[in-house]
Amino acid sequence: MIVDGKSISYSYDYSETSFVLKNIDISIEKGDFVTILGCNGSGKSTLVKHFNGLLALQHGELNVAQIDVRNEKDLWRLRRICGMVFQNPDNQFVSSIVDEDISFGLENYEVPRNEIQGKVSSALELVDMKGYEKRKTNTLSGGQKQRVALAGVLALDPDIIIFDEATAMLDPSGRQEVINIMDRLHRAGKTIIAITHYVEEAVAADKVILMDKGRILSSGKPKEILTNTKLMNEAGMMVPMTVRIYYDLLEAGIRLSNCPLTDEELVEEICQLR
Ligand SMILES: Nc1ncnc2c1ncn2[C@@H]1O[C@H](COP(=O)(O)OP(=O)(O)OP(=O)(O)O)[C@@H](O)[C@H]1O
Ligand SMILES: [Mg+2]
Repeated sequence: MIVDGKSISYSYDYSETSFVLKNIDISIEKGDFVTILGCNGSGKSTLVKHFNGLLALQHGELNVAQIDVRNEKDLWRLRRICGMVFQNPDNQFVSSIVDEDISFGLENYEVPRNEIQGKVSSALELVDMKGYEKRKTNTLSGGQKQRVALAGVLALDPDIIIFDEATAMLDPSGRQEVINIMDRLHRAGKTIIAITHYVEEAVAADKVILMDKGRILSSGKPKEILTNTKLMNEAGMMVPMTVRIYYDLLEAGIRLSNCPLTDEELVEEICQLR
């Protein structure tokens, strides 16, 4: 297990009456693609900010990549192993020039000078942003900014990459680009933790974690979670469109043999009716 948490509770004002995380147990396997779903304020960001020590653990236990997050001396090592990309890339830049921004993180980790250029280059290549080294970050499009921010994280070669609604501000093609990069990283063996409001982005995950009011309401395979209308409604989430169509058809007297999660599965099921 690369993330192993037990009885995690958290309150921003340290009061015993306002917990925003309530007794959370969480486990994530190394190399998995995990999607965290839940409505606004359910505690998703608060939870993942514990994984790389952005928030200090108050109650419970949490080990990430075998590091006890309470050990302050391991904090920098933890941050390097567990990188995080946020919703708004503008808040993630420390320098106004693309390559300087990426090298800043490497310099912080005292990567030898002669290795920095190469690492910056390969990180930009991973996100398809080669050739943008000298561009001012404020002249990039939203999708490009998000990819540069991701390159800054990737340059440090983390084992775990957390995307906290990293696709929220992007148009469908920008979103698809980031999703493709997530898939590529996943295939390369990285553990990916993606928070999203787009249920369609959870369909291909190894595991879906559904949060509600500071708790994990349920977790399991996408099929188990995303086709469970009652559970999803309880969490304030809409099931994927294919699932809605499945139930609409059922109401109209047409029963598909399986509840589909993707457009392709839906088409396949409908074709079988012929
Ligand atoms: N810095 C903070 N100070 C005080 N309360 C906070 C802070 N950040 C979040 N909260 C509260 O903690 C609760 C959980 O917030 P969190 O940001 O973790 O939710 P979320 O699931 O990430 O929501 P969203 O989908 O809107 O990003 C909310 O009630 C929120 O108001
Ligand atoms: Mg959030």
